[in-house]
Amino acid sequence: MQKQQFIWLDGKMVKFEDAKVHVLTHSLQYGSGMFEGIRCYKTAAGPAIFRLGDHIRRFLNSAKIYRMPAKFSAEELRDGIISTIKKNGLEEAYIRPFMFYKDIGIGFNTKGKSTSVAIAAIPFGNLFGHAGVSKGIRCKVSSWLRINSSTLPVGAKASGNYLNSIIASIEANDSGYDEAILMSSFGKVAEGPGENIFIVQDGILITPPKQSDILVGITRDTIIKIAGDMGLEVAEREIRREELYVSDEAFFCGTAAEITPIISVDSRAVGNGKPGQIAKALGERYSKIVRGEDKKYRGWLSPVD
Ligand SMILES: Cc1ncc(COP(=O)(O)O)c(C=O)c1O
Repeated sequence: MQKQQFIWLDGKMVKFEDAKVHVLTHSLQYGSGMFEGIRCYKTAAGPAIFRLGDHIRRFLNSAKIYRMPAKFSAEELRDGIISTIKKNGLEEAYIRPFMFYKDIGIGFNTKGKSTSVAIAAIPFGNLFGHAGVSKGIRCKVSSWLRINSSTLPVGAKASGNYLNSIIASIEANDSGYDEAILMSSFGKVAEGPGENIFIVQDGILITPPKQSDILVGITRDTIIKIAGDMGLEVAEREIRREELYVSDEAFFCGTAAEITPIISVDSRAVGNGKPGQIAKALGERYSKIVRGEDKKYRGWLSPVD
């Protein structure tokens, strides 16, 4: 990872190497931290952050779900994120706000514990690299099911939830695949370890609904909106595993993955085994929108300067 100069920590800029916690920190021991993944893109008017308000809302909602006392308002977090980009002189970045219990000790009770917020911004290309986006990736349906909301709140971006993502990714990678696809505990397609999924059948975009225990992604919402502009029909409905094998196209979407075509699932080619035309067209449109080249969606961008 490329080191940046500064991390925002509880309202102050600290040197990258000084943003440290004790090994007995509650959120390190028990996975009780909440985080977000946000991107800042280079635009003609300088760096701009994509759908910042929506990410901050989800961040604060994650904390609310766990009754975690948020000591910074949405406005303060927004200022903190913008100043982290500025202070590090970044034009494009992946931004990682992280709220955590800083108390040290044994015992998972959170009552009376105080929180800290750190904001890091680092240069970070697409999660699957340029090759992943241009050539597509190969996926495996995981033997690990997606956590469900009667066990853990899937709508919170809590660190602990990502053990489910990690174990599925380990299995997929060890088996020679690029990424996992997790099924819900109801036996329907849920999502990737850190991405939502779409399939395309006869020109219709299909994506699992909330009921499939997905994290309802902001990129997923972006795709639904821009697909409508492009005259594409979108259906939010449950997807059976075998539909992954026989669809015309499939792709992942997420802040880190952006729009990444899936070219095979469980060693069965999706469509003709090449990135699909609809995924490509959506990817191009998305890339223009996040870079401020599409007037209609400039409102989704928060300029840094
Ligand atoms: C489990 C999971 N699903 C989906 C997504 C995509 O969400 P977004 O588009 O808001 O980045 C993410 C990324 O945060 C994720 O971690």
